[in-house]
Amino acid sequence: MSKKYKTKWYQGTTVYQIYPRSFKDSTGNGIGDLQGIIEKLDYLQDLGIETIWFSPFFDSPQRDHGYDVKNFRDIAPEYGTMNDFDNLLKEMHDRNIKMILDLVLNHTSSDHPWFIESSSSRDNPKRNWYIWRDGKKSGGKKPPNNWITMTGGSAWLYYENTDQWVYFHFLPSMIDLNYRNPEVKEEMFNTMRFWLDKGVDGYRLDILHAIYEDEQLRDDTLCRSFLPSDKNDALLFHSHKYDLNLPETYDFAMELRKVVDKYEPERVLIGEVSGNTEESRKYYGANNDGLHMSFLFEYTSTPFNPEKYAKIISKIEKILPFPYTPTFVLGNHDRMRYITLLKNNTQKAKLLATMQLTLRGVPFIYYGEEIGMPNVRFKLKTSQDPIGRKYSWFPMPLISRLIGFSLTRDGCRTPMQWNAEPNAGFSPNVNIKPWLRLSKTYKKLNVFNEEKDVGSLLNCYKKLLRTRKGNIALQEGEFQFYELNEMKKKLLAYRRIHEVQELYIFLNFSKKALLIKTPKQEPKLLFSTLPNREALDPDSYDGNLRLTPFEGIIFK
Ligand code: GLC
Repeated sequence: MSKKYKTKWYQGTTVYQIYPRSFKDSTGNGIGDLQGIIEKLDYLQDLGIETIWFSPFFDSPQRDHGYDVKNFRDIAPEYGTMNDFDNLLKEMHDRNIKMILDLVLNHTSSDHPWFIESSSSRDNPKRNWYIWRDGKKSGGKKPPNNWITMTGGSAWLYYENTDQWVYFHFLPSMIDLNYRNPEVKEEMFNTMRFWLDKGVDGYRLDILHAIYEDEQLRDDTLCRSFLPSDKNDALLFHSHKYDLNLPETYDFAMELRKVVDKYEPERVLIGEVSGNTEESRKYYGANNDGLHMSFLFEYTSTPFNPEKYAKIISKIEKILPFPYTPTFVLGNHDRMRYITLLKNNTQKAKLLATMQLTLRGVPFIYYGEEIGMPNVRFKLKTSQDPIGRKYSWFPMPLISRLIGFSLTRDGCRTPMQWNAEPNAGFSPNVNIKPWLRLSKTYKKLNVFNEEKDVGSLLNCYKKLLRTRKGNIALQEGEFQFYELNEMKKKLLAYRRIHEVQELYIFLNFSKKALLIKTPKQEPKLLFSTLPNREALDPDSYDGNLRLTPFEGIIFK
């Protein structure tokens, strides 16, 4: 690590993602809101969270629950008012918690006044704010090219009144803005300034990889992949060569950086981008002058296996060495909850949380992960998530088994489980049905119960967050693998090294106890996933450390 480089606040922080609709309802209408979040800030502070990212709470018809924005500078009435927002920001900053907003630059709702104007006539001044084209073939009744959306199906929507097609990358109710028009860019940069001037600490940038499309709208090339992965965007045999991750989009990341760099203290940009780690790296800029971070999703689809994790970690360390900042995501509002993928094994969840909070980079904890909330099954037909309804004709259980993910995202968005009371304490109104059905697990898995149980997942997260906060090597230290030889099939081990501190992290991925030669004669235990473990006493094991099944430890 270069001595000249001073670590920035965001490089050692821990982020908690709140899906506002599902966190805490204060009014009793079954929908979470800003006042509800304010009520729970003490809980988050006590948990040890330093930064909160909010999924969008801007004015929206809610067809994609806020990712379809109708007014980028106002709060959706069901979530509260601008006054509530100002209070939320103040209450967070008073507790030393940073605020990250979710900015959907790529598209607007089709209900946005800009789009209503734009679609009204060919010569409307807002026409060029979106991407309109004539169709192909005689009469223009075929879309301009063969592009498909991220959710499947043609990416073009026909408007009879002007006899043209408009481009969208996600769903037909969300239309892509045209960033080749400087007016659009300026308007959206001003929107960023609007919230930055209020004091927000940064942005999570929604599907940033989709900002630009090929200017000539060349037909997409076809390929063999049917389903996308965390490394590859190809979908339904389309490679997405001309509509994702364009060179112009990498340059755009640097323009965004210039907007936020005008602010003191430093603000942060986190990109939701697709593709493999090499591609994500391009968004950081050649001189770390692009986004501060981008999400690296490969961990979410990695099997519970130390060698597989070690491979990803080496790759990330190589592609994003310090001062580049990697990220570690285990779940979010689009993915299956990770504990469900672990078959609800709390010991395994504790181990992954330990890895997430001790690797170099920024961990993102999705609300409810800390208490082990599982994914809930929902019918596609009645899904709140529009993607679920789009695919309601699919045999869901078969598909989830085949592809390992659910076609409705409702399952990972259920209301937060605060206690065992009716509605899990999510809503003060026990007679209301929350916007999504609760997980049946709430009677047992809830904040109130887990706070009292020393062995709970919640108390493990708390202890981990405290250990991370109290040890500079975990926030800023260099990363180095600890050589394991034949043990590497069962164990992941590494060090975090800082000028003033050197720590060891040993993670036992096996269901058997392990004896490992200790690197220190008198190791001092800082943390164990076991609630009552106090020391490591290698003397009792002939100079070895004994790790119980799935145990993770931090020591010096
Ligand atoms: C991102 C969001 C997702 C949303 C989509 C369209 O992938 O995470 O929830 O539906 O973009 O904005």
